[in-house]
Amino acid sequence: MKPKKFVLIAVDGGAASGKSTTSRAVAERFHLLHVDTGIHYRALTLLFLNWRRKYVGENPIADFLGQIKIETSLSGQSALVKINGSVPDDEDLRSPEVNAMVSHLAAMPNLRELLKGYQRGLTEFARENGFAGLIMEGRDIGTVIFPDADFKFFLQADEKTRAKRRADEGFQDSIAKRDKIDSNRKTAPLACADDAERIDNSNLTADEVVDKICAIIEG
Ligand code: CDP
Repeated sequence: MKPKKFVLIAVDGGAASGKSTTSRAVAERFHLLHVDTGIHYRALTLLFLNWRRKYVGENPIADFLGQIKIETSLSGQSALVKINGSVPDDEDLRSPEVNAMVSHLAAMPNLRELLKGYQRGLTEFARENGFAGLIMEGRDIGTVIFPDADFKFFLQADEKTRAKRRADEGFQDSIAKRDKIDSNRKTAPLACADDAERIDNSNLTADEVVDKICAIIEG
């Protein structure tokens, strides 16, 4: 089913709260472009970790960001970030080193500013590629990136459920630690927008969450 006008949907929530599974399924249902902004932060972190080894100056972050060129490619309905000409490997993006570092880099205002411009520009990419709208997931989408989104959802689940999901995916990840850094940073912290629909999915299946969100959008 295609919505009548270009529709903008924000999905936020903590680590392993079910954002990606849900957003991908909703994107498919309504022919929307799916954007996982977590991979933008992960990709910059991965590159920074490698780049820093050879760096000798005094402003590593500013100099690093100064040589970054960000583009987009498509994989099915999902947008993939391409940095300096290449799309990072998904497994590398979820390595323990990236998991441990990403929230620290994501707290840097100049890095967030760069990604804010890029992320907002993805509405244009979605239109140019014939999508009926955009569903973007992250931590600050409903609060900072698209405060005027047509629909906003905030997903949450208890910590035990989230830790189990991450372990089942086979990744080593301190989700509680990341959530703490993400919630306490000064710039664009992890937060539920006042006008977002909060969905606790600790006891819901992925299909139930998707059906709930689709019913709200269709309604
Ligand atoms: O997949 P998971 O929910 O564990 O994390 P992610 O969505 O891949 O995000 C990785 C990290 O990127 C988060 O812990 C945040 O530090 C950062 N991030 C952010 O600051 N703002 C966003 N909009 C998305 C991610």
